Amino acid sequence: AQSLRTLALRHGLQIGTAVDMAALNNANDPRYRQITATEFSSVTAENVMKWESLEPTRGNYDWAPADQLIDFAKRNKQTVRGHVLVWQNQLPGWLTSGVEDGSISKQELRELLRKHITTVVSRYKGKISQWDVVNEAVSDPWDNPPTLHYKGFWAQHLGPGYLADAFRWARAADPKVLLFYNDYNIEAFGSGNPANDKTQFVYDMVKGLLAQRVPIDGVGSQGHLGTQYGNYDTLQVTDALKRFTALGLATAFTEVDVRSEMTEAVQAGDSAEINPRLQASAANFSVLMKACLAVRSCISFTVWGFSDKHSWVPTWFDNPPEGLATIYDENYQPKRAYHEIKSDLIFA
Ligand code: G3I
Repeated sequence: AQSLRTLALRHGLQIGTAVDMAALNNANDPRYRQITATEFSSVTAENVMKWESLEPTRGNYDWAPADQLIDFAKRNKQTVRGHVLVWQNQLPGWLTSGVEDGSISKQELRELLRKHITTVVSRYKGKISQWDVVNEAVSDPWDNPPTLHYKGFWAQHLGPGYLADAFRWARAADPKVLLFYNDYNIEAFGSGNPANDKTQFVYDMVKGLLAQRVPIDGVGSQGHLGTQYGNYDTLQVTDALKRFTALGLATAFTEVDVRSEMTEAVQAGDSAEINPRLQASAANFSVLMKACLAVRSCISFTVWGFSDKHSWVPTWFDNPPEGLATIYDENYQPKRAYHEIKSDLIFA
């Protein structure tokens, strides 16, 4: 049978996965490495390119795990999506505590961010195809206050101007790499789901940045979906991609997974093809894939882990427990979602 990467290549599409370096290096788990190498043409570091991993103590960068992923990608003729330069999560403790106790001033913080972006982008110049420059900068409709706004550590301490700065610093360090804004709940506009108001906010934000000549090349739509929220519609998702494209941007799905609440029925039928949750999960994967295939600007489709054996979902959502979010089960058997996106790649 043909791999996803062979089929995606025909469309000029990169098909990627987030990579858990511990799993990749586990000699007792050889299927993980094998599937990563053979089914995907692109990899993203699930954690090891985040600031806390790269600079655990101030001034001392630990490049080893990130370099290892870059080498793995090279050996397997894969591209690398860089994730992530600026985010409020997984920041090093020395940085957040320094800001909290006042030992790092705002001015110094801005300089630290400039240095971090410059250092990381320069190191991987020519080795990374797309960088998530800024991740998840916008609040959710269910946050307080209820109107959408810039959220998180960076907006709080530097104000929203950090977005333009970050893209400019990244561009200065590598003129060729594609620079992305990346976020979740921006898969569609409107459509009755209040979460989608965020799509409009991000659209306006990116449009505003482009009007200021900020070097932003693409919008990454993460694609963390859940079957309890119902099905997305291919036309709506396609429309969202087209609207970003009309701004002159590349688009990508960057972190796709479709989780389900682990009710007894779901658990009982977790490997059965007739399980309605697994069908709904597969259907949503397929909606995103079909939309991506329908829009030329959609240059990559990345899943956030490919196996239920290694997925952030069960550790993150435990009340109620959620899982079964990926395209392979815990024993590396392809699930319905795998087959659906494969047939999308075959028949598009
Ligand atoms: O580094 C420690 C390690 O030393 C310790 O042994 C281990 C014990 O549990 O924890 C390790 O840290 C965990 C880290 O993953 C590495 O496994 C953190 O506790 C855990 O919070 C962290 O979760 C990651 C999460 O981002 C945190 O923000 C997930 O793996 C990762 O999948 C997730 O990815 C994010 C994207 O970057 C952005 N979009 C949303 C997506 C899902 O949350």
